[in-house]
Amino acid sequence: MCGIVGAVAQRDVSSILIEGLRRLEYRGYDSAGIALIDDNKLQRFRALGKVNELAVKVNPNQAGAIGIAHTRWATHGVPSENNAHPHFSRQKIALVHNGIIENYKDIRTKLLADGYEFESETDTETVAHLIESYFDGDLLAAVQKAVDQLEGTFGLGVIVSDDPNTLVACRKGSPLVVGLGIKENFVASDVSALLPVTNRFIYLEEGDLVVISQNDYQVYDANGEAKELTINTTELSADAINKGNYKHYMLKEIHEQAKAVADCLEGRISENNVLDSVFGPESERIFKQVEQIQIVACGTSYHAGYVAKYWIEELLGRPCAIEVASEFRYRQSVVPKDTLFVTLSQSGETADTLAALRNLPMEDYCGSVSICNVPESSLVRESSLVLMTRAGPEIGVASTKAFTTQLVSLLLLAISIGKVRSMDKTIISDIVRELIALPRQIESLLFLDKQIEAIAENFIDKHHALFLGRGVHYPIAMEGALKLKEISYIHAEAYPAGELKHGPLALVDAEMPVVVVTPNDGLLEKLHSNMQEVKARGGKLYVFAHQGAKLEEPGEDVVVEMDCETRWTTPILSTIPLQLLSYYVAVQRGTDVDQPRNLAKSVTVE
Ligand code: AGP
Repeated sequence: MCGIVGAVAQRDVSSILIEGLRRLEYRGYDSAGIALIDDNKLQRFRALGKVNELAVKVNPNQAGAIGIAHTRWATHGVPSENNAHPHFSRQKIALVHNGIIENYKDIRTKLLADGYEFESETDTETVAHLIESYFDGDLLAAVQKAVDQLEGTFGLGVIVSDDPNTLVACRKGSPLVVGLGIKENFVASDVSALLPVTNRFIYLEEGDLVVISQNDYQVYDANGEAKELTINTTELSADAINKGNYKHYMLKEIHEQAKAVADCLEGRISENNVLDSVFGPESERIFKQVEQIQIVACGTSYHAGYVAKYWIEELLGRPCAIEVASEFRYRQSVVPKDTLFVTLSQSGETADTLAALRNLPMEDYCGSVSICNVPESSLVRESSLVLMTRAGPEIGVASTKAFTTQLVSLLLLAISIGKVRSMDKTIISDIVRELIALPRQIESLLFLDKQIEAIAENFIDKHHALFLGRGVHYPIAMEGALKLKEISYIHAEAYPAGELKHGPLALVDAEMPVVVVTPNDGLLEKLHSNMQEVKARGGKLYVFAHQGAKLEEPGEDVVVEMDCETRWTTPILSTIPLQLLSYYVAVQRGTDVDQPRNLAKSVTVE
């Protein structure tokens, strides 16, 4: 999604802005731009494509002590230089925007009648002109008046040509942070953009506006009242967000999973139990009331929730529903008494997930829990109970370590609820023992790297792939298919293996790779029968077999043996080879692994 960086300093800010944009590249974008004020004149550089293409366009002689910059992920209007931000109004106002202005057409019609000329197809340009129409020397007042008329979600950064020491920014639905330096201040969509210049941040709240200058800043609420917000010091270092010796962030993040899982567990478990109150002091009271659970999430996080449905219903004997946030938020759902609402999100900024939480009739629920990876995110700040997954920064658009740590967190949730409802202590200690062994087992699965890289060659010229799973491995198959399609652009679908004969079997022939994870569980026999159905139609099987779950006559099938004997953590382990498979297929097809086309890391618009 779009990224914003802005700076006011006593030095030239162009290199700070370009570096900030580079650090926001992971969010996904199609064009980039920067505006500076030099000698009371707005200067602008824009480029289609990567930030590097923008960087070579920026005139090295063009200095500016104030500026705004942007990476655009197209919503209104095709990706093009003309539609790229910043947008100008009458060479006076420059503006960058993240989000969607829903009522822009009405405002545009009025502005056209007032003589404003539009150069782009974007909703954003409307806001630049609207602010200009209100500007009479006071930028904050003009932005406030404009914002009052806007419907939708937005983060804005605005400068005006004849005031090179004032930048106004605001947030409604889109995240925005203020970075505080020494005689220089900044704004950005997230902290990672500003880590080279500061570690002190203010997280703006919904509806807030901020005015920043070289030596000062002031935050205002939506009613224009001045307010104070806490200054937070982040422990993230500028170096935390680099690829190290890995070719891609995704590969680095796959390899970081053993540590991420260990970090997720640290201080939360003993040798045979989950510690009290890992979900906070209020959790025991809420968990005692829970009769059923509703999980809401998107994409990979939705798949994690789907796995948890199987775990929770088996472990707690309570109904657990899972739904994608974009559906849940717009329908009338029936909420039985004492339902716990659970949101899952890596970023904590996913618009649909946040909206589902924000629109919740809380009186119908006994509480809400969010499992999230970004401590400063909106989801964390707006949830009553929170568990941080502690996966560390995830930069690759394809979620990997965020998923496995979400699964670990969901097991902690199931046990934490179970504990206050007299869950069998032996089962709890079995699960905890498996969790303790998990980082080491993940490490050992990563040694399959080379074998999977070789197998990936078989997928290079394929257009479609099927992923099969049964029980708790059905959502793992869904996650495997999502990974493959998002980074290699191969059409991949997941099916519960038992559904094969109800339709998808018609697709199976020698050209259709069929990927199956075979856990050694009660459904193994059934799964083997489903695999025979594939073989009988000439389909090629790629089998990731857990210990004791090998095919008796593998024949032409490609089999990767996974040497782990587990019960509860099996789906977490099964995920690792599927991540590696999609990674190596994408690398061999030459796609942009970390920033796949059309996708964004943090989906802050609906
Ligand atoms: C995962 O690989 C995806 N890129 C995507 O589905 C992602 O999981 C989804 O957008 C939800 O994001 P969140 O976890 O930050 O809410």
